[in-house]
Amino acid sequence: MKFKALRLYREDGRRVSRMVENTVDDLDAGDVVIRAEYAAVNYKDARAVTGVGNVISRFPCVPGVEVAGVVHESADPSFRPGDKVTVQGGRDFGMRRDGGYSEYVRVPAAWLGRVPEGSDTFDMVGMGLAAYTSAVAIDALMKHGVTPASGKIVVTGGTGGSSSFAIDMLANLGFHVVASTGKTAEHAYLKSLGAKEVIGRDGLTTGDKPLEEQLWAGAIDVVGGEPLANLLRSVQKGGVVCAFGNAAGETFTSSIYPFILRSVQLVGVNGNHPVPERGDVWQRMMPGGDLCPRHTREICHTIAFEDLQAHCDRLIAGGVRGRAVVSFGR
Ligand SMILES: NC(=O)c1ccc[n+]([C@@H]2O[C@H](COP(=O)([O-])OP(=O)(O)OC[C@H]3O[C@@H](n4cnc5c(N)ncnc54)[C@H](OP(=O)(O)O)[C@@H]3O)[C@@H](O)[C@H]2O)c1
Repeated sequence: MKFKALRLYREDGRRVSRMVENTVDDLDAGDVVIRAEYAAVNYKDARAVTGVGNVISRFPCVPGVEVAGVVHESADPSFRPGDKVTVQGGRDFGMRRDGGYSEYVRVPAAWLGRVPEGSDTFDMVGMGLAAYTSAVAIDALMKHGVTPASGKIVVTGGTGGSSSFAIDMLANLGFHVVASTGKTAEHAYLKSLGAKEVIGRDGLTTGDKPLEEQLWAGAIDVVGGEPLANLLRSVQKGGVVCAFGNAAGETFTSSIYPFILRSVQLVGVNGNHPVPERGDVWQRMMPGGDLCPRHTREICHTIAFEDLQAHCDRLIAGGVRGRAVVSFGR
């Protein structure tokens, strides 16, 4: 059986991705073969496909850290052909092991999560790492004492995949959400997800003093870099910032004053957990749960496998709204 896969190669010091024809034997070993239906496009996947940074550290390799589909064959008795499953998060899938940008995928059975009743393979991958990491961040915000009565919560990178879900879930929990975005044409989209206010990227603080007007009871930050330093100046006393991204930069410089004079807490979040290890937060995202997103179909759009490379170029340039999901057309 031959099928299409996208592979990243290292050639003459450059990273180059190419659509190739593979067989199952070309893929890394595993006891379950999945016929892929959908694969997500995260920021890190776009970096991998376009050869930016070091997401992939083994060559050649199939990128794509999240996929969902149907079991094609299984040497493990806990999975049968036809079972709906997903692989996402953790391990080396799509980074140091062949990942999800392939019409057939082979993995160890221990990496598989089941698609629960009431959900489908599109929902699993549509929510995926983006919604799950946002949910972990929101859970952390609440565990650090932030409630809807505390004040406004700002979400940076508002139109991005993760942030769109964060806005959706926070609004559903009753928070007053302020979305920050660089896309002036997308204010209506952000309000449709539940943002009460939309501000530009320069609206995170009111000036450049170490402590500025106290605007935010909390923040979900996916961009890092200078915007994170700016918003820290305007977090109110006792406020909490949950940070998990680097879209604007990997480093930032802040004065110590938000921390020692306002007791601001900066909480780092890593949502890169395999589905079988996600526990309570993942369960709360399923239908009926308090963290179940209401706008997955508005946030996510499908793209054809053939359009994946061009889409990744656009995402890295910051020109994408919401979250793309590759449809393998089955
Ligand atoms: N730690 C973890 O476990 C984890 C898990 C998931 C994601 N992440 C990270 O979270 C971030 C977001 O991921 P994603 O998949 O949601 O990405 P995404 O869909 O590309 O969203 C990123 C958003 O950030 C904003 N942005 C992009 N470039 C920017 C810049 N130079 N300055 C300021 N804002 C910029 C854009 O929103 P606007 O145009 O609306 O401003 C963009 O839509 C990435 O850094 C990713 O690596 C980390």
